[in-house]
Amino acid sequence: MNKCLLIALWIFLLQYFHVGNCVVAAQWRKVKRRGDPPAMCGYDSCPSGKPGMVNVHIIAHTHNDVGWLKTVDQYYYGSRGNIQIAGVQYILDSVVDALMEDESRRFIYVETAFFWRWWLQQDDQMHHTVHRLVKEGRLEFISGGWSMNDEAVTHYSSIIDNFAWGLRKLNDTFGLCGRPKVGWQIDPFGHSREQAAIFAMLGFDGAFLGRIDQQDKDTRAAEKTMEMVWEGSDSLGQAADLFTGILPNVYWPPATFCFDLLCGEQPIMDDPRLSDYNVDERVDTFIQVVQNQTKMYATNNLVITMGNDFNYQQANVWFKNMDKLFKYVNARQANGSNINLFYSTPSCYLKALNQANVSWPVKNDDFLPYASGAHTYWTGFFSSRPAFKRMEREASSFLAQCKQIDALAGLGPQDQHEVAQLREAVGVAQHHDAITGTERQHVADDYARQLAEGIGECQDVVADGINKLSKVSSPIQYQFCDLLNISQCHVTENLGQTTIVLWNSLSRTVNHYVRLPVKDGDYSVTGAGNSDVPVQITPLPKELLTIPGRISAATHELTFRAKLPPVGFATYLIKKVSKSRPKKYNRGRVLQRTARSDYLQNEDVVVQNEFLSLAFDQATGALKSLTNLESKDSIAISQSFGYYIGSVGDNSKEELRAAGAYISRPNCSDGCWKELKSNGSYEVVKGALGQEVRQYINPWISQVIRLHTTSKHVNFEWQVGPIPIGDDVGKEIISRFSTSMKTGEEFWTDSNGRQNIRRVRNFRSTFKINITEPVASNYYPVVDRLFVRDNGQKTQLTILTDRAQGGASLNEGQVELMVHRRLLVDDWLGVSEPLNEVGLGQGLVIRGTHRLILAKIDKSAARYRALSQASYWHPTILFTAVTTQESRLEALKQSSVS
Ligand SMILES: *[C@@H]1O[C@H](CO)[C@@H](O)[C@H](O)[C@H]1NC(C)=O
Ligand SMILES: *[C@@H]1O[C@H](CO)[C@@H](O)[C@H](O)[C@H]1NC(C)=O
Ligand SMILES: *[C@@H]1O[C@H](CO)[C@@H](O)[C@H](O)[C@H]1NC(C)=O
Ligand SMILES: *[C@@H]1O[C@H](CO)[C@@H](O)[C@H](O)[C@H]1NC(C)=O
Ligand SMILES: *[C@@H]1O[C@H](CO)[C@@H](O)[C@H](O)[C@H]1NC(C)=O
Ligand SMILES: *[C@@H]1O[C@H](CO)[C@@H](O)[C@H](O)[C@H]1NC(C)=O
Ligand SMILES: *[C@@H]1O[C@H](CO)[C@@H](O)[C@H](O)[C@H]1NC(C)=O
Ligand SMILES: *[C@@H]1O[C@H](CO)[C@@H](O)[C@H](O)[C@H]1NC(C)=O
Ligand SMILES: [Zn+2]
Repeated sequence: MNKCLLIALWIFLLQYFHVGNCVVAAQWRKVKRRGDPPAMCGYDSCPSGKPGMVNVHIIAHTHNDVGWLKTVDQYYYGSRGNIQIAGVQYILDSVVDALMEDESRRFIYVETAFFWRWWLQQDDQMHHTVHRLVKEGRLEFISGGWSMNDEAVTHYSSIIDNFAWGLRKLNDTFGLCGRPKVGWQIDPFGHSREQAAIFAMLGFDGAFLGRIDQQDKDTRAAEKTMEMVWEGSDSLGQAADLFTGILPNVYWPPATFCFDLLCGEQPIMDDPRLSDYNVDERVDTFIQVVQNQTKMYATNNLVITMGNDFNYQQANVWFKNMDKLFKYVNARQANGSNINLFYSTPSCYLKALNQANVSWPVKNDDFLPYASGAHTYWTGFFSSRPAFKRMEREASSFLAQCKQIDALAGLGPQDQHEVAQLREAVGVAQHHDAITGTERQHVADDYARQLAEGIGECQDVVADGINKLSKVSSPIQYQFCDLLNISQCHVTENLGQTTIVLWNSLSRTVNHYVRLPVKDGDYSVTGAGNSDVPVQITPLPKELLTIPGRISAATHELTFRAKLPPVGFATYLIKKVSKSRPKKYNRGRVLQRTARSDYLQNEDVVVQNEFLSLAFDQATGALKSLTNLESKDSIAISQSFGYYIGSVGDNSKEELRAAGAYISRPNCSDGCWKELKSNGSYEVVKGALGQEVRQYINPWISQVIRLHTTSKHVNFEWQVGPIPIGDDVGKEIISRFSTSMKTGEEFWTDSNGRQNIRRVRNFRSTFKINITEPVASNYYPVVDRLFVRDNGQKTQLTILTDRAQGGASLNEGQVELMVHRRLLVDDWLGVSEPLNEVGLGQGLVIRGTHRLILAKIDKSAARYRALSQASYWHPTILFTAVTTQESRLEALKQSSVS
């Protein structure tokens, strides 16, 4: 299957190197003129290997998780040593010392969030020393994101923000010598194609990866295709191509060669008088490691990673032993050995590959999902910690709006600190143990705290910005409601009147259904030009009212349709009106509210608008069919909830792998899928602005299937939890859609919310997969959407998610999403806690939305993109209790800033 690229790598990379060389040369001249030592930081500073030898590039590195078993702060300072002996400040202190001792030593550093903290605490002299090390290429920044982001469950805009912030700090501090040239994604659990495209667009020359599917890796090792050119995008062409290398041993040192104090392995004992003298054995073994590795790689250049999690807190221990290892291994050259070890960096290794002038195979799919063993599919984390995954998305979207308003209002430097706080919190949240849900509980709580504080700071910025943009004479005090997801808002539910400002960050007009929690009553909504806006008042579903922790007087929801200008805001005045007011206000009520008993036998319940029609079974309230009234496409469709039982085991071998924060492993001994049958209780609500069916499934699952009057999509608003565990069974909860569509084996999922990737059931395009986990191996990350196509009917069914979730199509015509998980044992991949999230003493309740579109294949693409953008960058709402509302409102009006 591997087609080989006919043009050589050097031709492909020429453009990048060309640019890189020019840039570095310019810097060199500039620096020379200032009288400083020559800047050797670029590719020019690379050690050259020896011709005719196997040149082994030794990469001294440390992997610093931006939170995992400990919080970011705990890792930085090294507190809570009882959990993990890990203090990043000591790593940077001691690495600088060790580098200064010997010019040949090199070190790479990756996580800017940590580096930046450390940098701010150093004095001038240390700054000078570090500048020198960076200029001489001895300390090299690699990748340079604020954190090493996860690739499966992150949104592309957050990945870009994460890099933008880290790279900006490096550039501001070190100039061109601080600019990373290579991506370094050594620990993330699988790799997305969009990440490759982003790296290429960032101007990186290549990327190195640690974790790919074991079967894929075995195949590549046998075929010497560990290194390749990855086509990051169909549409961007070569601009998105990226040289990509798979590291030989994830990111760890070869077995028995971890010289760190944390590892406790044998140092090189080189006094021949000692009985423990081990140089000959150590050298023989290392040479064997190298020889083994030559069988897996295409050139005479090899890369070996010497480092691990939080290594180098006493860097000298590592460097001293590596110095000796190099000395004794290289001494064998006098006796005919062709192995040459030296300190290098990933970019220098890349340069050597470039000079080797060979052809590389091409890849154009992705490295997801990741399996490290026959029963160890890292597909559970796609859905782990669904509340945090949603919160992260809210925060990322709000960050974009905050930056936008800050820039448009020209708030100047005084707000930069506030914006930075959310930038950094969102950057940290992209870390591969943050948004993934694979951190300890107290660390997850800390991530949520950072996001909440960052959001709070940015709310101040947004309020300032809106005040400035609306040119009010005295600033209005704005408030925000962060818990609209559970219909809780202290402003709208308590005040007789409220003015709300909606900010639309998209560059086009958006019609948005605003839904606000209120007390029962009649309300009027006034928009621009004192126009009266139609309102609907709907009682809240009773399951919502009893969510643990909800503190709200609201029993109803007020809905109206707001029209928002491109990159601008609109203002609406909401007023409680007395029943005696003119009749026109009474239209804001539910027109019809019926329960199952109100329907005649065998009469379908129909929910529809002019675009879509949904039919439900009268007896059970179950969805039966969906029709696109414009295209006349109609499908039979049902939706149900079910669960998988999480496997349990002591993880001592593959067969005993448990499902946990990382791993999904449904126990299929009695059929995988366990349907959660609805008891058939439902309710239909029809109003002027929408129609809905409210399904009660069981005491801990309910759903509202809602169709707004002008929408071309259907919302499935599910509420799941607390997942019961009284039966001692860990569960993964699934929402499954089964249709009559002829979809074959194919479905598509997005890559970080941007491009789509075709998936084929029980199949991988670059290796022959042995299916050992029928469900977990067919799960893929869905950041934004998943769809199936009936090519005979030329229709596409797309489901958009409101956060990252695992998704699959396990049978023809079917798609499913894993919405929630609660598991009782640990999967033994380090976190050492079962994924059993509780809040207020109970399992978490999660609310979310699936948006479903049925359309012709040609038209649907544009439609889901617009809907997806409008959902991701949904308007920010500011609330205020206005007193002299009419004049204030006039001042605000509707305004487009663009
Ligand atoms: C990088 O830093 C230089 C020097 O401070 C500055 O002129 C340039 O605009 C920065 N580049 C970016 C992309 O921020
Ligand atoms: C090298 O490979 C052989 C064959 O797979 C294996 O037995 C041996 O343990 C390997 N040696 C090292 C040092 O990894
Ligand atoms: C090279 O070979 C000679 C003769 O066998 C031996 O004495 C010497 O120790 C070897 N040198 C190294 C570095 O192995
Ligand atoms: C690279 O290899 C090609 C043949 O594959 C050869 O034509 C070309 O001259 C080589 N380039 C360099 C710089 O060695
Ligand atoms: C799967 O479930 C069966 C039946 O409850 C049980 O006997 C078995 O141990 C479970 N296997 C795993 C790996 O959890
Ligand atoms: C379903 O269960 C709910 C809650 O126990 C109950 O109120 C309702 O009457 C039941 N509906 C049917 C049709 O059994
Ligand atoms: C597939 O994997 C299982 C479990 O590791 C193994 O027992 C079986 O032999 C493999 N089958 C093939 C065809 O490789
Ligand atoms: C509502 O949003 C908050 C903040 O993001 C989150 O903590 C909470 O879990 C959400 N509640 C539900 C029921 O989804
Ligand atoms: Zn990590």
